[in-house]
Amino acid sequence: MSADFGDNRPDLAAWWMPFTANRQFKADPRLLAAASGMYYRTVEGQEVLDGTSGLWCVNAGHGRAEIADAVRQQLMTLDFAPSFQMGHPIGFEFAQRLTKIAPAGMDRVFFTNSGSESVDTALKIAMAYHRARGEGQRTKLIGREKGYHGVGFGGLSVGGLVNNRRTFVTLPGVDHLPSTYDLTRNAFSRGLPAHGVEKADALEGLIALHGPETIAAVIVEPVAGSAGVLPPPVGYLARLREICDRHGILLIFDEVITGFGRVGAPFASQAFGVTPDLMTTAKGLTNGVIPMGAVFVKRGVHDAIVQGPEAAIEFFHGYTYSGHPVACAAGLAVLDIYAREDLFARGAAIAPLWEAALHSLHAQPHVIDIRNVGLMGAVELSPREGAPGARGYEVLVKALAAGLLVRATGDIIALSPPLIISEAQVGALVEILGGVLAGID
Ligand SMILES: Cc1ncc(COP(=O)(O)O)c(C=O)c1O
Repeated sequence: MSADFGDNRPDLAAWWMPFTANRQFKADPRLLAAASGMYYRTVEGQEVLDGTSGLWCVNAGHGRAEIADAVRQQLMTLDFAPSFQMGHPIGFEFAQRLTKIAPAGMDRVFFTNSGSESVDTALKIAMAYHRARGEGQRTKLIGREKGYHGVGFGGLSVGGLVNNRRTFVTLPGVDHLPSTYDLTRNAFSRGLPAHGVEKADALEGLIALHGPETIAAVIVEPVAGSAGVLPPPVGYLARLREICDRHGILLIFDEVITGFGRVGAPFASQAFGVTPDLMTTAKGLTNGVIPMGAVFVKRGVHDAIVQGPEAAIEFFHGYTYSGHPVACAAGLAVLDIYAREDLFARGAAIAPLWEAALHSLHAQPHVIDIRNVGLMGAVELSPREGAPGARGYEVLVKALAAGLLVRATGDIIALSPPLIISEAQVGALVEILGGVLAGID
């Protein structure tokens, strides 16, 4: 495999890139050619420390031979099999294995191919649940401002990032909780911010406005990721749970980012001690190497839908690739790695060092907040006058040139390194970022 394209740079015109400033990118492309362990290598041959687990997904690090072996073996054994009215053993095996690390009682798994599909699936399960129980009028959905739940029309509608929404129609019957973002009270919090539990009480207001009997589900990210890493205020998720319970509303945690060890336990639900009714996942499910998602469902929710005449299909929903055998093989190999290397515990063990290292950047120019939880973190910069996002983008470009991959959402630098990161690599990451921040005007 050649990592260096030299003069044979690919023609960049045809690929219309997702969530990318296409013309700016193609004028000065950033191309990754290879990856191993904690590092990417660019087409120019530069080593780059992966500060973002790719896109929040490569939790076990890159180039894992065990996953490659499992994928190859599965391809040569059973490359594809339909999962509508047919099945295959590895799909059942993977679902069963996943329930062993899931929060107690969440022991039914619906497979999808992405986080967006997991979200749309979970929203549909919520509606189907209420209908099966004779409450088919419960169709309204509540998301949260600044939430990101992927790009399907369901996820878009419950999401709360205006740039993602403004061009498109969204579902009717959707409302939003306020964001918990609050720099006035919570700037430079370490771990969960102390202030903001009362933001959950806004749910009571929305319920009073719409009528509890019309609401199917509330969906939130336990830690808002794409909005720039916003950990939940102390007590906030428990308050949401309490209010949902009181009104018969399902609670969905979107754990597409927080799942699989990101915040110090297999799932944020366990780390924060609050169990939802449904949990959407993807990304770390297969270490990002094969697209796959999974919705974890409480037994009672599943059983309410999977009933009636035995010959009837209970839930008219699914994807050609639901439970794809090759994705399942990858996922099983990933679960083996997580267990063998105790990576969820490792993420938790290194989190205090991560917190201290990240917060050492507080005196750098333009830094207005630093946030962290588990192995997630963000450094928020004040926007440049009249050019919001410009400073963040410059950090992305300069960090890459200095050998570090970060994610910039506006002027927020988001970080989420693989759980295998060493103490020395945490030090290197923060040193590179600090050097870049020091030189930004
Ligand atoms: C919380 C959350 N939900 C859903 C998604 C969408 O996942 P995908 O891009 O796999 O569709 C993402 C992606 O980052 C996410 O962070």
